[in-house]
Order: sequence, then structure tokens, then C-alpha cells
Amino acid sequence: MDYVGNGHKFPSTKICLLFKSCFIFFCLFTILFNSKLAAGYAYGARNLASDTPSGFISIDCGANEDYMDNGILYKSDRDFVDTGINQPVSPNISRNLRPQLKNVRSFPEGRRNCYVLKPENGKDNTYLIRASFLYGNYDRKNTTPIFDLYLGSNLWWTVDWDNGYVETLYTPSTDYITVCLFNTSKGVPYISTLELRHLDNTIYRTPARALVTMQRLDIGGRSNLRYPADVYDRIWNPLNVDTLNSSVTNSSISQGNNDAYKIPDTMLRTAAKEQNASCSLIYFWETQSSSAQFYVYFHFAEIEKLVGKKRRLKVDLTGQRNATTNATLDYLKPLSLSLNGTPDNAGQLQFSISAAEGSDLPPLLNGFEIYAAKDMRNASTVPVEADAMMGVKGAFKLIRNWEGDPCFPSELSWSGLTCSNSSASNILSINLSSSNLTGKIPASIANLREITSLDLSNNELTGEVPEFLVNLPNLRNLNLTSNKFTGSVPKALLQRAEAGSLILSVGENPDLCTSLKCPYNLKKYLALIIIACILAVLLPIVVFALVIYKRRRQRENLKREIEERLLKSKNRQVRYSEILLISDNLKTTIGEGGFGKVYYGTLSDKTQVAIKLLSASSRQGSNEFKAEAQILTIVHHRNLVSLIGYCDEAENKALIYEFMPNGNLRKHLSDPNTKALSWMERLQIAVDAAQVNKLQG
Ligand SMILES: *[C@@H]1O[C@H](CO)[C@@H](O)[C@H](O)[C@H]1NC(C)=O
Ligand SMILES: *[C@@H]1O[C@H](CO)[C@@H](O)[C@H](O)[C@H]1NC(C)=O
Ligand SMILES: *[C@@H]1O[C@H](CO)[C@@H](O)[C@H](O)[C@H]1NC(C)=O
Repeated sequence: MDYVGNGHKFPSTKICLLFKSCFIFFCLFTILFNSKLAAGYAYGARNLASDTPSGFISIDCGANEDYMDNGILYKSDRDFVDTGINQPVSPNISRNLRPQLKNVRSFPEGRRNCYVLKPENGKDNTYLIRASFLYGNYDRKNTTPIFDLYLGSNLWWTVDWDNGYVETLYTPSTDYITVCLFNTSKGVPYISTLELRHLDNTIYRTPARALVTMQRLDIGGRSNLRYPADVYDRIWNPLNVDTLNSSVTNSSISQGNNDAYKIPDTMLRTAAKEQNASCSLIYFWETQSSSAQFYVYFHFAEIEKLVGKKRRLKVDLTGQRNATTNATLDYLKPLSLSLNGTPDNAGQLQFSISAAEGSDLPPLLNGFEIYAAKDMRNASTVPVEADAMMGVKGAFKLIRNWEGDPCFPSELSWSGLTCSNSSASNILSINLSSSNLTGKIPASIANLREITSLDLSNNELTGEVPEFLVNLPNLRNLNLTSNKFTGSVPKALLQRAEAGSLILSVGENPDLCTSLKCPYNLKKYLALIIIACILAVLLPIVVFALVIYKRRRQRENLKREIEERLLKSKNRQVRYSEILLISDNLKTTIGEGGFGKVYYGTLSDKTQVAIKLLSASSRQGSNEFKAEAQILTIVHHRNLVSLIGYCDEAENKALIYEFMPNGNLRKHLSDPNTKALSWMERLQIAVDAAQVNKLQG
């Protein structure tokens, strides 16, 4: 057996028949599924630097740890499968294998064992899924096992070879994709690698949810191509065309921005080309089937520099009407054509590429893909409920034999389930009595709209009996006997039980209140009440504080403005409204002078001021007021109280002085308490006052 080697080999491939009529046939009698694995995986250096691309799930089945290989992160399968055992392949061949193939996971127990993949993009997206198998005498029995491979509840392939892979473009209807191995009593099933790649949804059509890859060929290529050359990690096998005229370019093919096919440059640089424009390139393949529908994708790029003309081609599927497509090639521009849903022609598929009518340039072909449509819309559990059951399985980790589709195939439906008798099955009942379950009732049960019976008795389930059970319209039997539920049974359930529409068993749950007169769940309500009270008290306070704070801010800002003006402007004139602000609406009277009352005020920088307001009944008139204001704004002296500003509006006149916290002089001079001012101090004051008078005079 040839496990290594550089060139790809189709074991029973023959490039055959070179017709004299210049028709060139290259025919293949086999299909991709048994292409040799070792060749299918071009060996590459380990590359730890680059991150694995998004939309890829790469599982090395049977591996003990994760690792990078060729820019792809391969994960151990322990998070994707619950069953099976790791086994290395025979050391005789192991040495030369890529790491993915050095071990397998085999499934000696159970009829069905499944991997569960959960791609980020979820359902209704198209994925390339590839499963690889290299027997490698892992069980030392020298007998290749034969077993069935399923995607969901659909048979995918019967694996009856010892070295190869099977690949499918799949558009699942659920967020989970299950890949299951079925033991058909012909040896223990095993698997080497499982790979999933998210594709652009616009390129390949999957009308019945799946296209099985038959051939993907790089004409004139020298070795296999895959990631990173192909961003989708499609594997391109070289088709050796030594007997044909092959054409090669070293120029890079410019990928159009919106070319979703993203055909690898290297693939497009080689092509098969006819010499004579009146000849065709003909490909012939025995499909070994008579009912399949084929999807063929042709990939072209002009790799010859033609002056003044363009190659125009015609693609024909022999024996098919209306299966002709024309194409005009531009230099170094990729072009892909698809022929969809072609029935095979009595077990054969044959196409020809020729010059289009009126074109004198011979035809050319760079590569192509052939897929067989596969109906993967088999009977299955309705997607929402299949996802819900995956949720239940995840929550109750203990359950065995819950693998693949919950209801199908019916002889392998999950133990404890009954399903409705239709091609899209609903879950009708779940019986997990005495299953050592712990934890809470999983919320995903709420999605099982048709369920009539739920038996979870004799387990160790905790938490509350969830309210959502009330909303299951068809539930007739609910058995929660003998668990560790707490809280109280939802009232609506008890009412339904009383009305006779539900058989409710909730006994032997010591901490569960099972009557209609259950006290309110104190803990829950107390917490709510306390929070409500705190909010009721706090909210007005917070609002009030905010309002006050905002007002104060406004006032402070205004004050600062006034002060700035007082400091900067020469005349230091302020408005009456500002006087009111500074004095807090004339709140504090600190004395009475010749003009009228004197008020206390503060500026925003906390400078204290005294505000003399000219009262209407003042003995001194407005002329005197003006004189004082003008003099004081000019005169500055150490012993003179300094004027900070004044207000001179028709009725309202005021002077703003620096505030003297010790009161006025007269009071101190006439204070009977002799200690207030000593004689020396009084003398000094007299001298200072005289100086001021001299200044003023
Ligand atoms: C192309 O093929 C046609 C038909 O076989 C033949 O008559 C013609 O001479 C060929 N032309 C060349 C350039 O070989
Ligand atoms: C669930 O299964 C147990 C035994 O496995 C059985 O005794 C019980 O009756 C079943 N419950 C229902 C609702 O059928
Ligand atoms: C509920 O489960 C318990 C324990 O499994 C069983 O004894 C009882 O009969 C069940 N009740 C009903 C109504 O099925």
C-alpha cells in the first residue's frame, strides 16, 4: 500500500484514447472518494505563527492534544465526541504519515457514535465537510472494517476502503451538525480526521442540502493543492495531461474582487489546451450510477497573451439538451461556469469544451469540479427540537446512547424518547426516570412544543420547578417525584392538575411546596421589596441633590463671570441682578451706614465682600454715591477698604467692598472694653486716617 508519495493517484485511472479525429478523451473510471489520503494531504512544514482561519473546524480524531499544521489548528476530538477510544496506527507505516493520520478514534461500543460540530455561522450556511479514514491496521487485525457514515439522519457514504476521504458540501437545517459512524457488524468503525470549512453561500448550490464531491481536478498541476493556496481548503488533485498539450504561465492570475469562487492561483496557471480550433477537449467519466444529478463547475483563466482577440469557448454536456454555456476569457482573469442539476446519461457523464461559433482559437480548460447532488432532507427531528434535545443532552452530561438525530433512524432513536410518526418528527415524551440526573431542568425543554409526557422522577434534580412548563400546551403528564427541587410548584400547574388536564406528581421533594397555598417565596420577594424600598427613598433624594447641584453650578459660574469682569474691567460696574446673586438675595445684613444697609456676600472664589446698598430714603443722594464710587475706584491705599465694584442702575445703586470680618472702626473705638484697642493702636489709626484724608483731599 502506498501511503506516501508526491503525485496524486487515482488507483484505477487511465488517461485513455487519443482520437485521430483530434478529439482528445481523458477518462476516469473512478471517483474522488478513494483517492489516496497520504497524497491527498500535501505535506507542509509546521507553521505555528499564523492563526487558523475563521470558519474552520479541524479535528484530529484520536489525538491527545491540539497543534498547528500548515497554518491550521487541529484540535483533539475530546470536545466533539463522548464515546470511543484513541488508537495509534501500526508503527510500520506511522513514521511517514501526516500527524492527523497517525492515530484514529475507534468505536467498539454502540451501534451509532457521533461527532457534534457546532459551526459559528450556524444553520442554513454551506459548509465543506471532509471525513478521512486511514485504517493503518490500528486494531492489528489486518481486516479493513466496513461501516456507514451519516450526516444527521442521512446516509452519507459506506466506508469500505482503508485509505481515503469523503467530502460533501452541506447546508444543514440545524445549528448542530452530527457526523455519525454506524456499526454494520463488519468491523469496528474508526475515523482519522474531520474537517469543516465555511464556504461562501453564493457559489455552490445545494438544493437537497448536499453535494457530494466526486472530482476536483487541477489540469496540468504537479501536486495536490489545498490551504493556504486554497482559502476554503478544497483539495485539488492534479490531472496529469502529458498526452495533452498543457499550457503554463508564471504570471499571477488576478482574482476579481467579487469572485467568490476564490480558485487558487496555482491551479489556474496550468491548463489543457487544444492546438487546433476545430478540435474539442472531451472529458468522459463513468458515474456508476443512473439516477444521480450532477453539478459541474468549470474554471478558466486565459493564460496566453493574445493580441487583439479573446478566446471564446463553448461548454457542452454530451447528450444533454440546453446544457451549453458560452464564455469569453480575459487575459489572467478567472472565470467559473456551472452546469447545475444535470442528470447522468446512462451511467456516464461527458462534457466537451470547444471553440465557440466563429472563434478560431482552440479551447482551453484549467480545472473543474464534479459533484453529485445528494438528498439529505431525510426524515429527521424538526430542527428546533433537535437543537433543544442537544441542549438537554448537554445539560444532563450522564446520558449514553444519545447520539445523532434524536428520532431517526427510528430503531436508534434516543433511549427514553418517543417521537411523532412523521418525516419531521416532534418529541412526544421524555422518560429520564432513575437516570442519576443532577442540576436544573434545562431551559431548552421549553422548545419541545408537542411534548405530552415528561418523567424526571427518581433523580437528584435541584433548583425550582420552572415556570415554562406551564406554557407547554400539550403536557398531560409531569412526574417530578423524588428529586431535590426547592421553592414552590408554579400555581398554573397546580390549577391544571386540579382541573384534571394534567397528571402532576411532585411528591418526595422535601424542600418543595406543593400546595396552592404556598407562602410566597420569602427570599425572592423580600429581596424585591427591599430593593423597591431603597429605590423609593433614594430616588427623590438623588433627583433633589442633582437639581440643587445643578443650580449651584449655574450660580457659581455666574459669580465667576462677575468676578472676572470685576477684576478685568476698569469701571468694575456690575448689574443689580448680580448684586442679588453675590449677596444671596440680600440675605445677611451686616450693618447700616450713611447710604443705607450693608449686606454680606461672597464671590465664587470665596472672597468675602460687603455690599452697601443705596436706599431710597438715604440722607446722602446719588451724587455723593457717584463721587464715592469714582474716587474709590481710582484710589487704593493700605488703610482704605478697597472697592471691588459698584452697581449704578436707575433705582438700584450699590458699592461692593472687601469684607472686613472684624466689623467697623467706630464700634472698636467706642468699645467700653479697654482691651479692644490700646492707646498706641488708637494713635496709629488716627495717623493712618489722616493719611487717607490727605489722599482724598
Ligand atoms: C485542424 O483540424 C482540421 C480538421 O481535422 C484540419 O483540416 C486542419 O488542417 C487542422 N489545422 C491545423 C492547423 O492543424
Ligand atoms: C419511565 O420509565 C420507567 C422505567 O424505566 C417506568 O417505570 C415509567 O413508568 C416510565 N414513565 C412513563 C411516564 O412512562
Ligand atoms: C411517578 O414516578 C414515580 C417514581 O418513578 C412512580 O412511582 C409514580 O407511579 C409515577 N407517577 C405517575 C403518575 O406515573
